[in-house]
Amino acid sequence: MRRKLAAGNWKMNGLAAAMTQAAAIAAHDANGVDVLICPPTTLLAQMANLPMSVGGQDCHANTSGAHTGDISADQLADTGATYTLTGHSERRTDHAETDAMINAKTTAAYAANLTAVVCIGETLSERETNKTLTVIETQLAGSVPDTATAANTVIAYEPVWAIGTGKVPTNDQIAQVHAHIRARLTERFTDGADFRVLYGGSVKASNATEIFAIPDVDGALVGGASLKAADFIPIITALAAS
Ligand code: 13P
Repeated sequence: MRRKLAAGNWKMNGLAAAMTQAAAIAAHDANGVDVLICPPTTLLAQMANLPMSVGGQDCHANTSGAHTGDISADQLADTGATYTLTGHSERRTDHAETDAMINAKTTAAYAANLTAVVCIGETLSERETNKTLTVIETQLAGSVPDTATAANTVIAYEPVWAIGTGKVPTNDQIAQVHAHIRARLTERFTDGADFRVLYGGSVKASNATEIFAIPDVDGALVGGASLKAADFIPIITALAAS
């Protein structure tokens, strides 16, 4: 049985006052669903004291050194974090991260005993030119290390064109990609059937129930709707009921 995971990616949002939202999310009885928030690094240590999982949004491939402005997986773990995102499309775009770089970062996360949530997803032009499954396959093969297991890795499928746009793929499109990811995982890893695969991109309380009913969707990676407890808790509730 794969444990369901409701993950929030706060991106570059949240000042100290946002801790009240995190506290309200953590205080909610999640009914067996794992709850994870990846806040900005400034809030990580404080948030790690709450009864839920917290994670970084990125980590460097090295454990320490002359890398101004970067953060290592060990430093994330040192705050109490147990997860980190790697390969988010905003990092792939804003910081020109390649699959090889994401693979190295993910390997660094494992070394620090963090579970990596490796993000993959196609752009709109890739979708429109029927390249979605090829892109997914290439990113999975390149970004996910050979040492990945269901315990140290979660995959998040986030179509780039659905992030922050209010546009969501059809249920059939989500089902097709998740089935494809599952097939590649089971082909490559002995415990491939046990990896959790999340959907991300404009998930809200109003579409969560429908998305969580899709086979092979084990939870969500939520951006905007994870910032406020009033928006995120109904998503956690929908996942618990799925
Ligand atoms: P939105 O939920 O705001 O579309 O963001 C999704 C995302 O990028 C989560 O990592």
